Amino acid sequence: MILHDSFDINEKGRLTVAGYDAVELAGRFGTPAFIIDEGKIRSVCREYRSAFSEFFGGGSRPVYAGKALCFTGLYRVMREEGMAADCVSSGEIATALKAGFPMENVFFHGNNKTDDDIRYAIASGVGYFVADGEEELYAVDREAKAAGVKQKILLRITPGIDPHTHKKIITGNVDSKFGSAIATGRAAEVTALALSLDNIELSGFHCHIGSQIFEPDPFCDAASIMMRFIAEMKKAHGYTASILNLGGGFGVRYTEDDPEISYRDNIKTIAEVIKDSAKRYMIDQPDVLMEPGRSIVAAAGATLYTVGSVKEIPGFRNYVSIDGGMTDNPRYTLYGSKYTVVNASRASLPADFEITLAGRCCESGDLIAEGVRIAKPERGDIVAVLVTGAYNYSMASNYNRVPRPPVIMIGEDGPRVAVRRETREDITALDE
Ligand code: LLP
Repeated sequence: MILHDSFDINEKGRLTVAGYDAVELAGRFGTPAFIIDEGKIRSVCREYRSAFSEFFGGGSRPVYAGKALCFTGLYRVMREEGMAADCVSSGEIATALKAGFPMENVFFHGNNKTDDDIRYAIASGVGYFVADGEEELYAVDREAKAAGVKQKILLRITPGIDPHTHKKIITGNVDSKFGSAIATGRAAEVTALALSLDNIELSGFHCHIGSQIFEPDPFCDAASIMMRFIAEMKKAHGYTASILNLGGGFGVRYTEDDPEISYRDNIKTIAEVIKDSAKRYMIDQPDVLMEPGRSIVAAAGATLYTVGSVKEIPGFRNYVSIDGGMTDNPRYTLYGSKYTVVNASRASLPADFEITLAGRCCESGDLIAEGVRIAKPERGDIVAVLVTGAYNYSMASNYNRVPRPPVIMIGEDGPRVAVRRETREDITALDE
């Protein structure tokens, strides 16, 4: 196993993904290609669902955050696994619809939904809007009235947590484009507004504190602040929130330096805080939702590339150029994100050649990794970047008019094309 159970090395000394030889997958489907282990995704969904019913109970459930990876076949898997879904655009809603996803289990996010988005979402029957603030409340109320429905919503609240320092930096969090802050009193004001509108039903509150978080503490802090806020709103308005959504954010192991994390244990710890807070503030425990994205799909994915050149620059570094790059994985360029890179063709040889993995865009910053070690490759070798299931395909672009790679899902019946490779014809298809 390499990092996660989807990755291993076979008797030929090659990398395997979900038990399939990566070099053979590359030969069959071409490169670059996103390979996704469907079984891994299903098993993480089941881990979440069972932990939610065991520790939170009632109607508590995990909501898959589709921004991490979104295509119709994946939404079919989410439907089959009984997950709810968080959609952040009308495009993601359209994907859920195409997959036959039960729309009452969709939560529609976004800090600036247009009137058109709102109309489309209501017409599509989304279960809940996660409303960002005043303007959206009025717009949803108006469109719900026009459609003759009462739209359920959650209000997005900023509890004032900085997950990466574990300190409650209230001012830091007030300065956010998302939601309404408790600290400024704004959260209480928009709650009063939401309760006053006739075509809206306020089901509860939502917060999201960050991403790639390995400790339960920031979630516990957020949970306890949100429970106190729920108690305050009960006192002020006699209003009982039935849902508390704590957002996404559990971390994933990208390299050996990242810790292993048990989502189940974290959920158990958060559930204890929720139960204690319910007692302390003398309120009923709401149904608890969380919105994992990365932690459901990241470890199920690998990207396969073909090596084009190995440029050794003595005294500097060795550039290995591959047939993809920032167009399929912009995360190093954007965030300096670290990845594990493997020479899939020679996975059992010592990883003793230090490289910079470079893409093929006309841009020096188009890199996927620096200072990583792999077995020395040559042109034609297949190189894999592991743990690319989240925020890679979903963030891919056509910069330099590079066609996007396909998504190959490996399910019970073996590998299949879930999203086909873009062609040069696709690239010019929208041009008048
Ligand atoms: N819910 C809300 C409201 C969110 O904003 C996010 C992520 C999630 C759930 C899912 O969080 P997760 O479980 O995946 O951490 N592009 C960045 C990540 C941006 C995350 C944005 N929001 C990256 O590549 O690291």
